[in-house]
Amino acid sequence: MTTQSKSEQDRVVIFDTTLRDGEQSPGATMTHEEKLEVAEVLDTMGVDIIEAGFPVASDGDFQAVHEIAKRTKNAVVCGLARAGHKDIDRAGEALKPARQSRIHTFISTSPVHMKWKLQMEPAQVYEMVISSVTRARNFTDNVEWSCEDGTRTEFDFLCRCAEAAINAGATTINIPDTVGYTVPEEYFNLIKMVRERVPNSDKARFSAHCHDDLGMAVANSLAGVRAGIRQIECTINGIGERAGNASLEEVVMAMKVRNDVLPYWTNVDTTMLMRASKLVSAVTSFPVQYNKAIVGRNAFAHESGIHQDGMLKHTQTYEIMIPETVGVKQTSLVMGKHSGRHAFVHKLEELGYQLAGNQLEDAFVRFKALADRKKHVYDEDLEALVDEEIAHAQDRIKLVSLTVIAGTHGPQRATMKLDIDGNVAIEEREGNGPVDATFNCIKALVPNEALLELYQVHAVTHGTDAQAEVSVRLSEDGRSVTAKGADPDTLVASAKAYLGALNRLMVKRQKGRPEPLVSERRVHSTEA
Ligand code: KIV
Ligand code: ZN
Repeated sequence: MTTQSKSEQDRVVIFDTTLRDGEQSPGATMTHEEKLEVAEVLDTMGVDIIEAGFPVASDGDFQAVHEIAKRTKNAVVCGLARAGHKDIDRAGEALKPARQSRIHTFISTSPVHMKWKLQMEPAQVYEMVISSVTRARNFTDNVEWSCEDGTRTEFDFLCRCAEAAINAGATTINIPDTVGYTVPEEYFNLIKMVRERVPNSDKARFSAHCHDDLGMAVANSLAGVRAGIRQIECTINGIGERAGNASLEEVVMAMKVRNDVLPYWTNVDTTMLMRASKLVSAVTSFPVQYNKAIVGRNAFAHESGIHQDGMLKHTQTYEIMIPETVGVKQTSLVMGKHSGRHAFVHKLEELGYQLAGNQLEDAFVRFKALADRKKHVYDEDLEALVDEEIAHAQDRIKLVSLTVIAGTHGPQRATMKLDIDGNVAIEEREGNGPVDATFNCIKALVPNEALLELYQVHAVTHGTDAQAEVSVRLSEDGRSVTAKGADPDTLVASAKAYLGALNRLMVKRQKGRPEPLVSERRVHSTEA
């Protein structure tokens, strides 16, 4: 609640890696259009650097980085590359149209990674640090170098590599806590030590990239800032490999709300945090946990009588931030079948959505259909509806109709019509219950070997006419995808979620995996 004093040396650069590390989360695939949409929101909200992808990983990644590079107006667009020349050249190529570009190259430096993952001697790794940064400098003078598994790297070697990277032209040195192993005090000491011991450390900006395996990614990143780091790598909703990365909204708000003890500032327009969170949740189908800091549904909700009483007397009794600061709007306008287009657009804007063209038209038609079936359309209903519009706009397989016969006298039977790439197909199947019959129809119409890992239903709002929101997770060949579907009819929501997951699986199949670096002999070691 203190105001921020804004000297340039206290500015912390926000490097968002939702589209790269975040998209690496198991199940979090985004389509090309969804990536562009997320990048646009990040750019508008004042993120300094957008890590748009890993161009050598697949043509899809390359195209996404290339298109984001073309469209981004304010932020630096960054592409990830391992230390090999092929990776770096591909990143350089993808970033060509960017107004401002950065190549982020990395190599493992810890004993365990060098021995088992890279199967390289430290001297070879050291040489690759120099050659990779030198190569990247041919494309841009904005080069970031990362020592993967930095927090488990021997100090001498870490300092020698960082010094060599800076000499070769790296302008940002990132010290990742790749496995989420460090604790705040240890990370503080590590960064302090590196900055003091590396003779040319004043020529580079230092960066934190902390994973959340022990739940300390945000705390570690902020400890890094206190030790002199001036770039935090983070993601919306904290998504990322395994337990995720430091959450962007948390690091930004920690520095804003506790500026008295963390006297640093960022360029992020915090009123857009909620919108970014919702968009990322919608396109990845990763729900935001209800009690998640800053953007969780309960972050500003007060249930107990004592708390409500305190809040009525003075909001500061139980609220350390004003909800509007992070884009939470408290309105009471409930929509219904008499609400017109103007009210609909206004409501969407309040909720942080800006739809236009066909997307807006389709959403409005679906809103009217929902309002015909449901007396009150609440904010949560609209969010589920619009999220679905965004997430499924590019789907190749669409549900046309579904009829299910269920009840005490089995067998249950479903009849389903699908639009698959513009062709309509119909199928009828029985099943052990209505959901099974529905899914059997889908399997008959779209044959696949994917394993159903998760099937979850919850009500979007209260009441027996509430919409059901179904989450489905499918896996195939070690790849997993998640999708959601919402509808007042639970079976229709289930079919939509299953089809959404199949659509995502098709996107993921195209994505493939990057070829191993010459030095990386084992396939599983090629992923960032
Ligand atoms: O976690 C990590 O070490 C990474 C690097 C590629 C920076 O994601
Ligand atoms: Zn990472």
